[in-house]
Amino acid sequence: MIQLKTVLAAGAFVLLSTAGIAGAADKCVECHTKVSPGMVADWKTSEHSKNDVTCSTCHGDAHSTAEDFLKAKLPNEAVCAECHEEQFESFKKGKHNYGWAVLNAIPATHMAPDELIEGGRGCGGCHNMGIRTDAEVKAQLDAGYRYQTNSCDECHTRHTFSKKEATNPRACQQCHMGYDHPQWEMWSSSKHGMRYFAKLAGDLPGSATAPTCQTCHLPDGTHENHTAWGFLGVRLPFPEDAQEKADRITILKALGVIDPESGKTTDLLNVVLSVDMVRADQASWQKERDKMLKTCTQCHSMNYAKTQLDAGDAILSKADRLMAEAIETVAALYKDGIIEKPAAYPFNYPFLLTMMHTNGANWDQELDKLSYIDQILVRMYMKHRMRAYQAFFHVNPDYAYWYGWNMMTEDLGEVKELARTMRATHKK
Ligand code: HEC
Ligand code: HEC
Ligand code: HEC
Ligand code: HEC
Ligand code: HEC
Ligand code: HEC
Ligand code: HEC
Ligand code: HEC
Repeated sequence: MIQLKTVLAAGAFVLLSTAGIAGAADKCVECHTKVSPGMVADWKTSEHSKNDVTCSTCHGDAHSTAEDFLKAKLPNEAVCAECHEEQFESFKKGKHNYGWAVLNAIPATHMAPDELIEGGRGCGGCHNMGIRTDAEVKAQLDAGYRYQTNSCDECHTRHTFSKKEATNPRACQQCHMGYDHPQWEMWSSSKHGMRYFAKLAGDLPGSATAPTCQTCHLPDGTHENHTAWGFLGVRLPFPEDAQEKADRITILKALGVIDPESGKTTDLLNVVLSVDMVRADQASWQKERDKMLKTCTQCHSMNYAKTQLDAGDAILSKADRLMAEAIETVAALYKDGIIEKPAAYPFNYPFLLTMMHTNGANWDQELDKLSYIDQILVRMYMKHRMRAYQAFFHVNPDYAYWYGWNMMTEDLGEVKELARTMRATHKK
């Protein structure tokens, strides 16, 4: 093997094939150096090439000509697990492992064009996370979509599979950005991110502290990511304060997990719990919060860090007051028959999980049926409420106020004004 290592480190592929190492692996490299040279070059820089992990280790050796390439196996995570069991097991316990399941669990997915779901763009481009069994890969193949069978290349991309790349916060950017989760934008323009970039530029000493996404979310090599609040920013048990409790119930109704008529929980709640979209008890929430606080205390006092995170919790409940008022305003329009229940809505009540701003199975035909006031509500929840509280946790003053809280107050104003006009112009 020493010989192989030396040869590959020299980057001299021709030498490799004359070095007398027989087998399918050489043929793969030989032909693919012509067919897809960039890919082979990447593999050559990887720890894999130095350790005799070759093309056929991951793709099998059933394909050997330019015509039979559909015989090449596209490896699921189980292939990586053969040698990286620790990371595989850790990933399995984290939230990324639910990426694909979550996507399929919510109604909006089934209202969007397929290309946005399966391909590497749209919802599927970011939700392509989660361990797939061999049977699932086969089902995917049978359904006609061949790629995206692996989650591990989302942070250490193929075929370099580099650890260093995955510790760069850029590894998270493609997915943690934009409309409803601009963590990249918030972090990179916060003092935490600014110090990271100043350090990169050599304007701070190399020993200067600057927490990255990985520092706070994947510490000590763990692949298990999880936060206390999670994305939807709702949890159980209900808060003690009567107003806060009422507001959360209103939001849960609009998420379709509490039936607005009976007040009972719905089947969608079980779905949401099964993919860990909300923390169902105090203990599981507290566990994540305590882990996070411990991370902050690498650089801050416990009291300082706790004060900061408590403020995030507090702004979330204040944001929920605005949100609940907007939902109730629109709910009253449903109740009074001023808005007609769209076919795809679970109840005669506003529904926030449409996400695509469409409301029917035939997205192209249903677009024009959605009431504009409902779209404002979805935007207020998905875009502005998210920003208002996520910015507190990512220490970003501009997102917290101008892009978050301030926009929520604008949304609420618009909802109220529109509701007044709709009532005034409604014909019985
Ligand atoms: C004689 C040339 C040749 C040899 C030998 C060869 N390949 Fe290929 N391989 C190709 C060509 C051509 C394609 C198709 C490229 C395209 O779609 O443009 C391909 C495609 C692939 C794909 C992608 C399949 C897909 O669905 O897109 C994988 C993976 C692959 N090869 C792996 C291997 C492995 C592993 C070996 C050795 C066991 C190997 N190749 C040997 C020529 C070769
Ligand atoms: C450590 C495992 C591993 C090794 C080693 C490996 N691959 Fe891959 N390869 C992957 C994964 C993972 C994918 C992505 C599969 C998917 O998207 O479903 C992939 C995808 C591909 C594709 C199709 C996607 C594309 O970007 O075109 C080709 C072609 C390919 N590999 C060829 C090769 C060749 C040639 C070698 C050897 C030089 C090699 N692979 C070595 C894991 C590996
Ligand atoms: C046959 C065993 C084997 C398989 C299969 C395998 N690896 Fe590796 N991998 C290794 C070895 C050996 C190393 C180098 C030593 C180490 O870091 O453990 C390595 C290193 C790595 C590294 C660290 C590289 C660095 O920069 O330090 C990553 C990341 C990685 N592999 C990811 C993957 C992924 C993702 C897959 C599946 C697509 C995979 N590996 C499949 C054996 C394997
Ligand atoms: C740019 C990447 C990206 C796109 C595109 C994207 N998502 Fe997401 N999605 C994410 C990320 C990242 C999270 C986690 C955000 C967080 O926790 O703040 C997420 C969270 C979610 C959640 C909540 C998961 C949970 O457990 O709390 C659902 C549901 C969801 N997305 C559905 C969709 C649907 C449906 C689409 C397409 C209409 C979509 N996403 C498009 C990246 C994306
Ligand atoms: C969300 C991003 C992300 C995903 C997805 C991911 N990793 Fe990693 N991986 C990392 C980070 C960050 C590190 C560096 C950890 C550290 O600081 O030591 C890493 C390190 C590794 C290493 C090197 C361990 C070492 O210390 O040498 C291996 C091997 C590895 N990952 C395998 C995997 C496998 C297998 C999967 C899929 C089951 C996977 N990773 C998915 C982010 C990711
Ligand atoms: C200084 C630590 C820190 C850094 C750096 C950091 N985060 Fe966070 N992140 C947090 C805290 C604290 C929370 C909220 C945890 C809770 O719910 O109690 C959070 C929450 C999240 C969430 C859940 C939704 C939300 O925004 O509240 C995601 C997703 C996330 N962070 C991703 C990222 C990404 C991606 C980066 C880098 C671009 C990043 N974070 C940088 C501390 C950090
Ligand atoms: C390929 C897209 C993608 C990449 C790259 C990615 N994530 Fe994620 N991340 C997601 C999606 C999708 C979710 C939501 C999954 C779910 O709800 O089950 C998520 C969820 C999270 C959460 C959990 C939030 C919660 O609900 O508790 C954290 C924390 C997180 N990611 C951090 C990171 C960090 C740190 C990186 C970079 C090292 C990263 N992610 C890279 C797509 C991605
Ligand atoms: C790796 C070190 C490190 C970690 C971990 C860290 N921080 Fe920081 N944080 C800093 C540094 C350095 C600054 C810049 C201090 C300044 O502005 O003078 C900072 C700034 C801040 C600020 C803005 C202070 C100001 O004066 O504007 C807040 C708020 C903050 N951090 C909260 C947190 C929280 C909450 C956590 C844990 C979720 C955390 N930090 C984790 C190093 C860290």
